[in-house]
Amino acid sequence: PGCAEPRAPPPRRLGRPRRRAAMQFELDISRAFGVAQVEDSPPRVFRIDDTILQHPRWGQGLRHVLDKVGERSRRAQGLGKAVTHGSGVVLGSNRVYILAAGRTALGLLKVGPKRLFVAKGTDGGLVDITPQCVLDFYVVEGHQRGGLGSQLFRAMLAQEGATAAKLAYDAPSSKLLGFLRKHFGLAKFTPQSNHFVVFDAYFAPAAAAPRRRTPGR
Ligand code: ACO
Repeated sequence: PGCAEPRAPPPRRLGRPRRRAAMQFELDISRAFGVAQVEDSPPRVFRIDDTILQHPRWGQGLRHVLDKVGERSRRAQGLGKAVTHGSGVVLGSNRVYILAAGRTALGLLKVGPKRLFVAKGTDGGLVDITPQCVLDFYVVEGHQRGGLGSQLFRAMLAQEGATAAKLAYDAPSSKLLGFLRKHFGLAKFTPQSNHFVVFDAYFAPAAAAPRRRTPGR
């Protein structure tokens, strides 16, 4: 059993955590998305796809931002190869959500569909699914555990029309597993040989039904 292009599997290196300041860029990231913001405004979440990466005015700067923040994420996770790049690649069906205020980037979240063959429980067979997957998730050191990850993740869910339970997670770190348990009550899963995590809730019919708002409330 396997999946399309799993990234390098764990174990992740456990290094001494280094505190780094937020990442500053020449590009005004918010402005590239038509938002006027200053550096100390509350950060906002912006969605990057190939269309904006090809924009004549903003594309090159945004590719640079993705390269730099993607590299930071790689280092934070102790991976050999960055999962997120802006230069020399196309995102294709993947999207990257970036958390930024003006010229300051504070994190990224990359998602995209993958075909996976996963064991459903310990005695069930393999099932063939193509969920949206969390491929890379990072909040800059010194800003973690302050709710920014939750802001970024929830903005992604809203734009994707997804729920945390219906996503798959590519080799999640212990921090991400703690995050999902805390914010979304997700904990139970069957370990897979491809290192993706698909929570038991993925297969529960209730998880598929988005919550409906009562009109007028
Ligand atoms: N140790 C354990 N749990 C942690 C840690 C940590 N150092 N940091 C965050 N968490 C979990 C905890 O559940 C924490 O709640 P608590 O502080 O009450 O214990 C919760 O996340 C905090 O939630 P937020 O503040 O909303 O999230 P944060 O801004 O910290 O962002 C993220 C979460 C993105 C996982 C961040 O911690 C990070 O960048 N970690 C380093 C990179 C990483 O591991 N990314 C995931 C890789 S796997 C993948 O991308 C598929």
